[in-house]
Amino acid sequence: MPPLPEKTIDIAGVLSRELGAARVIPRGDDRLEDYGRDESPLPEFYPPDCAVLCETTEQVAAVLRICEERRVPVTPRGAGSGMCGGCLPIHGGVVLSTEKMRRVLEIDEDDLVAVVEPGVITGELQKAVEERGLFYPPDPASLEYCSIGGNAATNSGGPRAFKYGVTREYVLGLEVALMGGEVLRCGRRTAKGVTGYDLVAGFVGSEGTFGVITEMTVKLLPNPPAVSTVLAVFADVATAGACISALLRGGLRPRVLELADKSSIDHIRPKSRYRFPDHAGAIVLIEVDGDPDTIGVQMERIGLECDARGALDVLAAQDPAERRALWEARRLISTSLKEAHSIKINEDVCVPRGAIVEMLRRVDALSAETGIPVAVFGHAGDGNLHVNLLSDGDLDDPDEQARMKQATRRLFEQTIALRGTLSGEHGIGLEKRDYMPLEMSEQVLEWQRRWKRMWDPHELLNPGKVLPARRPACSE
Ligand code: MLT
Ligand code: ZN
Repeated sequence: MPPLPEKTIDIAGVLSRELGAARVIPRGDDRLEDYGRDESPLPEFYPPDCAVLCETTEQVAAVLRICEERRVPVTPRGAGSGMCGGCLPIHGGVVLSTEKMRRVLEIDEDDLVAVVEPGVITGELQKAVEERGLFYPPDPASLEYCSIGGNAATNSGGPRAFKYGVTREYVLGLEVALMGGEVLRCGRRTAKGVTGYDLVAGFVGSEGTFGVITEMTVKLLPNPPAVSTVLAVFADVATAGACISALLRGGLRPRVLELADKSSIDHIRPKSRYRFPDHAGAIVLIEVDGDPDTIGVQMERIGLECDARGALDVLAAQDPAERRALWEARRLISTSLKEAHSIKINEDVCVPRGAIVEMLRRVDALSAETGIPVAVFGHAGDGNLHVNLLSDGDLDDPDEQARMKQATRRLFEQTIALRGTLSGEHGIGLEKRDYMPLEMSEQVLEWQRRWKRMWDPHELLNPGKVLPARRPACSE
C-alpha cells in the first residue's frame, strides 16, 4: 500500500462546504465517538477526522470524489454491527455513513424483487415483505439493528443460510459509487442471468474496499406457508455434533440446523423467556418449512433420528409465541457472552461438513490445553461454528492480549488443517487480515491486491482491511 498522505487538509471543512454542515460530524463533537468503534473485540478506538451522513447517491459520490482528489482515506459504514473491525477508520480520514439511506424503494410481487437503500434495517425489510406474503431469507442474528448494505458488504449469513444460502445469493443488482465519484449500475432484476462477468458477486463480500453500495435489488421468495421448530437436547456437545452429522448424511434439509453448547445456554438462561431444560449439556435447534402436509413427516424423521443419536429430549415449539421466545434466546447468545466477560473473541470459522465432529473435539482440546474457557454455538449444519474464546482478564494487558491471540491463531491453524476457512460469515476486516496467509497463498493474495487496486488505485477506500501487507521477497 502506498504511504498515506499527511492529513493537513481540513476535510471536515471541505465536506461541510460541499454537502452542508448538518451532514458532517467534525472532531470535538461527542457523536463522533460512535464512528470509531464497531462490535469487534478490539480494544482500540480509531478516531476519524469526521463522519459524513449521506442521504443520496449523489452525496456518496461527491464524498468519494473529494476524498480521491485530496487523497484522504474514506471508510464506509453501515450500522456498525460488524464484528471484525471492517468499518473502523484505522487511518483516520472520513467515515462515510449510509445509516440515513433507509428507504425501501420498491417491493414488486410479480418480479419477486425489492429495491432498497443500503441503510435499511434487515429485519424491517423482512417484516415489510412478509406483510405481502414474501420472504427475504438472510437472517443474521443482528437483524434487528444491522443494515442490508452492511450485510451485502460482508456477505452475511445466518441460521437460514443452511437451506437458503447467504446474502450474495439474494443480491441481483447494485448501484455502487466508486472512488473518484463515478456511479456504476450493474447486475440484473431477472431470476436468472449469465450476461458478462459478475461484478455484483465481486462487490458483495468486498467489505467496502471496492466501492460504496448505494442501492440494491434483492431477490425475494414466496413466504413458506408453514414453519415448525424443535429443540433437541443432548448431554454434551460431542453427541449433539454427531447427531448433526447423522442428519446431514440422512439427506434431511431443514431450513435451520443450529448448535449451542452448555456454556452458551448457561449464559442466556438469566435473560431468556424460553426455559431451557436444566440438564441440557448442548442443544440442536432445527426448523423445517414448506407445505403444511409435508413438514409433519419431515419433523417425524428428524425426531426419530435425534432419538436414535442420543437426544435426551426432543421438544417441539408449541405455538408462534414459544417459537419467537426460542429465537429471541438464540439471538441473545452473542451479546450475553459479551456482557459477561471483559474479553470475548468471537470467531466464525467454517469447516467442511464431514469435519464438524472433529472440529468440536479440537476446540475442546484447545480450551483444555490453553485454560481458556470456550463457548461454541452457531450454524453447525453449515460447519460454521462461532468459537468464543472468553476471558475475565484485563483487556488492556498486553500479556493477556498475547495469550488470547495465540489461542486464536491455534484455532485458525486447526480450522485450516481440517480444510476449513477463517470466516464463514463475519468477514475478515481488520481482525483476521493478518491470518489470511494461513489460508491463501501469496499468489492468490497478490491477485486479490490487483483486483482491489483496479477499483481503488490510490488505496484510499477502507484502507488496511481484508488483505495483509505484501510479504517482502528475500532480496527486498
Ligand atoms: C450469531 O450467529 O449469533 C452471529 O453471527 C453473532 C455472533 O457470532 O456472535
Ligand atoms: Zn452467526
